[in-house]
Formats: sequence, C-alpha cells, structure tokens
Amino acid sequence: MDLGLKGKRAIVTGGTRGIGRATVELLAAEGASVAFCARNADVVAEVAAELTAKGATVFAKAVDVSKEAELKGFIQEAAAALGGVDIYVSNVTGGSLKGAEQWQQSLELDLLPLVHGIDEVTPLMEAAGGGSIIALSSTFGFDNVWPSSPNSYGAFKAAILRHASAAAHALASKGIRVNSVSPGPVYFEDGDWGKIKAGRPEVYEKVLGSIPLGRMGKPEEVAAAIVMLASPVTGYTVGTNLVCDGGMTVRTQY
Ligand SMILES: NC(=O)c1ccc[n+]([C@@H]2O[C@H](COP(=O)([O-])OP(=O)(O)OC[C@H]3O[C@@H](n4cnc5c(N)ncnc54)[C@H](OP(=O)(O)O)[C@@H]3O)[C@@H](O)[C@H]2O)c1
Repeated sequence: MDLGLKGKRAIVTGGTRGIGRATVELLAAEGASVAFCARNADVVAEVAAELTAKGATVFAKAVDVSKEAELKGFIQEAAAALGGVDIYVSNVTGGSLKGAEQWQQSLELDLLPLVHGIDEVTPLMEAAGGGSIIALSSTFGFDNVWPSSPNSYGAFKAAILRHASAAAHALASKGIRVNSVSPGPVYFEDGDWGKIKAGRPEVYEKVLGSIPLGRMGKPEEVAAAIVMLASPVTGYTVGTNLVCDGGMTVRTQY
C-alpha cells in the first residue's frame, strides 16, 4: 500500500535510539523528509549522516526538549529547513524515574514537551492545510499490569493520553489529527529492557511471561503503528489510542 508520505515533512523528538529512531528511519524510507533531535550531539550527527547517505532529506539538532524555548526553537528551525510541517511525533520520555524529583522530571520530560510541541506545530500545520500529531504514551498510562509502587511515569503517561484526546477534538476542525500510541515492553539492547535484561534478569523474565505473544516488541513494530497514524491513509482516525503490546493489556479495548 502506498502510505502517501512522499514529500511530507515530519518532526520526531528523540530520534537517535529505539522507537524514535525506527520511526525516523521508516518515515525517511517512505519518502518523507525528517527532522529529529536528541541531547547527544555526536549521536545526532552520526544518525543524520547515515540517513543522508541513504538519500534522505534530514534536519537534525542536539536539543533538550525539557527546555521549552529549545524545543520551540527546534520546531521552527526544522519547519524552515523542511519547508513546513505535516507530521509531529512527541516521543521523548524521562523514563521510569525513581526518587523525590520524579514527578517534576516526568512533568518536564513527558507531558510538557507534548503540550509545547502541539502549541508550536499547530499554526505550522494549519499553514500546511492540516497534519498529524502522534503522542507516545505507554500501557502503564492506563493499566496496572504489574502492580508496582505508584510512580510518576504511569501518571504522566495517563495525562498524555488525556491531553492528546482533548487536543484531537480541539484541532480536528483545522484538519489536524491527534492520536496516541501506547507500547507495551519494547526490547532493544541500548533501551530500558535491554538494560533490565542484563542487570535484573528476574524482572525481565517475569514481564516476558506476562505477554501473551511470548516476546517483547521491536522498535520497528511500534514505528509502523506511528507511521500508519502519520499517513493520510488513516485520515479518518482522530483521538484514538493505538495499543501495541503483544496482547499484554487485559482490558477490553473500546
Ligand atoms: N521501550 C519501551 O519498552 C517502551 C514501552 C512503553 C512506552 N514507551 C514510550 O515510547 C517512547 C520511546 O521509548 P524508547 O524506549 O524508544 O526511548 P529511549 O530509549 O528513552 O530513547 C529516547 C530518545 O530520546 C532522546 N532523549 C531523551 N531525553 C531527551 C531530552 N530531554 N531531549 C531530547 N531528546 C531526549 C534520546 O537521546 P539522548 O539520550 O541522546 O537525548 C533518545 O534518542 C517513550 O515515550 C516511551 O515512554 C517505550
């Protein structure tokens, strides 16, 4: 199927690893021009060079999305470099933080970058005649799959779903579709589950045992869900939460 992404202009936050990187690669492979950011400037340059060598049109910058002015400046620079914005993927997370500061960090790394990103891309997408925004949440945002001590990650992933849903209804009349993607555990070596497998194998095995499909997800599988929602082929899908979790979520999804 032609996803209709040739010539589209996409921005992905946190594009050098895992799900974000797989999304950048898939968007580029589908013919979109892509802007991405992350904090490590060397890795940003490396990933950008790899994509450019494959013929992709890329704008990449070292940015900390927890700093509102940096994030908004990056979005404006990316839009100028690509000639506009049709797709925005809010992917960065602070992860499952521990300790007293976790609530502030989840606010600054998970929720506020989505809020600020939506605010900044809305006029740019209106100028483009519409667009697609995808917010990365998690099954932790709506399901206590492995009951654990309350932590900020699940609470802020829930807030992401709620804000994405409200934004979806507010922006649909402008032709801007907002949707969420909620992965279950996704394994890659330099990601959280790669580290847990190496450092706390008993936790890794326990979680693996709770996934009906019998394996963790791959970044490419979540990227495919994100790119599908980014594509005009899903042009009638607004305000949904697409769960990619190998069947781990127990609730009926409606
Ligand atoms: N992996 C999973 O099992 C899983 C499960 C459920 C939901 N999710 C969600 O899916 C999304 C992606 O997860 P992932 O595991 O692929 O993420 P990840 O391994 O944490 O990678 C995140 C990316 O964001 C960048 N980044 C981190 N902090 C940043 C900041 N302050 N400013 C700019 N860039 C920053 C990282 O590069 P630098 O470190 O160089 O900045 C990296 O490119 C997240 O929203 C996560 O909550 C993941």
